[in-house]
Amino acid sequence: MDLTSLYNHIKDKPVFIRKRLQEAQDNMESLRQGDLGWGETDLDGEEWNPDSSLDPSQPARIHYESYQDMAQMLFGPDPIIPVGLRPSMEIQNPSYDVNDPKFRQWEKVWVQSTEREKLLSCINNSNRHSPITQIVCIGLGIPQGEGEDEDDPEVEKRNYVQHLAVRDMAQELARLQNTDVRVFAQDPQYNEDDKTLLEKLSITIVNDPEAFLKIDESTFVVAICTSFPVRQVVADLFLERGTKGPAGIWGHFDPGSDDPASERVDTMMSNFVGIWTIGEGDEFWNYFGDSRFSWKRRDG
Ligand SMILES: C[S@@+](CC[C@H](N)C(=O)[O-])C[C@H]1O[C@@H](n2cnc3c(N)ncnc32)[C@H](O)[C@@H]1O
Repeated sequence: MDLTSLYNHIKDKPVFIRKRLQEAQDNMESLRQGDLGWGETDLDGEEWNPDSSLDPSQPARIHYESYQDMAQMLFGPDPIIPVGLRPSMEIQNPSYDVNDPKFRQWEKVWVQSTEREKLLSCINNSNRHSPITQIVCIGLGIPQGEGEDEDDPEVEKRNYVQHLAVRDMAQELARLQNTDVRVFAQDPQYNEDDKTLLEKLSITIVNDPEAFLKIDESTFVVAICTSFPVRQVVADLFLERGTKGPAGIWGHFDPGSDDPASERVDTMMSNFVGIWTIGEGDEFWNYFGDSRFSWKRRDG
C-alpha cells in the first residue's frame, strides 16, 4: 500500500501522540459514567461527536486506525479518528477456576522447554546495554486459553505460556540487575479471574491505553501476534519523545501482519538488533508465532 499521500498530509508529525491516547482514556471514563457529551479529535485536530452506536450500558473499546487504513480513508467522506472509541464486539471472557491444575501442567511444559533456556540466554545477551525497569505487555490474550483446537492441541496453552515467559524474563532481569522489574499487561479481554491469576505471576493488569502511556526508554515491550497497529503506536510515541525507542521489543517483524509496519516502524526497528527469531517449523512457533526478540542497539 502506498502511504505517500498520508505522509504528505501529516508531514513529519507523529499521529499516535500521548494527547490522543489520553483523550481516548478520558472519553472512556466519561462513557463509563454515562456521559456521551465529549468529542474525538480527527487527524487534522478537528473535533467530532462520538460514534453514534456507542451505548454507555454496553462495553466499548479503543480503536487504533492503522496508517494503512488512514491512507485509504484520506480522500473519503468520513473523518479519520486515529484513536477513537467503538462498541466492543468481543464475546465476554467467562469466569473460570484460577486453581485449575491445567495451569500447573502448562507451566511444567514451559519450565522444561529448551525455549525457556533460549529466552534466558537472550536476557543474558551482552547486547543489553541499559537497565530495564519494567516490561509492558500488550495483547497477550486471555490466559485460560480460547478453548481446545483439535488440529492444534498446543493452542490452548499459548497465551498462558506467553505470560509465563514474561514472568521469567522479569525474574531473570531482576536477578542480573539486582533491581525490581515490574510487569504490566493490557488486553481488553482480561477479566477479574485473569487479574487474580496474573497477580500470582506478579503481572499487573492495566486498562487500555495505560500500557502504551507507561512505555519509556527503559521498558521492554512484549506484543506477540497482535491484531492492531501496536508497533505504529509505539514508534510514534517515541518520535514524539524525540528518542529512538524502548530498551527491547519482542513482537512482530514481518511487514504485512495484522500489526502492520510503516516507515516510522522501520526507522524505529533499525535501532534494534534481533537476538532470537521464531518462525514456522520452530518447536515453539505454536506458542510465540512469527516473532522476534530484539534489544535496542548500543548506539541506538
Ligand atoms: C491475535 S490475539 C493474540 C493473542 C496472543 N498474543 C497470541 O499470540 O495468540 C490479539 C490480542 O490483542 C488484544 N487486543 C486488542 N486490542 C487491544 C488493545 N487495545 N490493547 C491490548 N490488547 C489488545 C486482543 O484482545 C487479543 O487478545
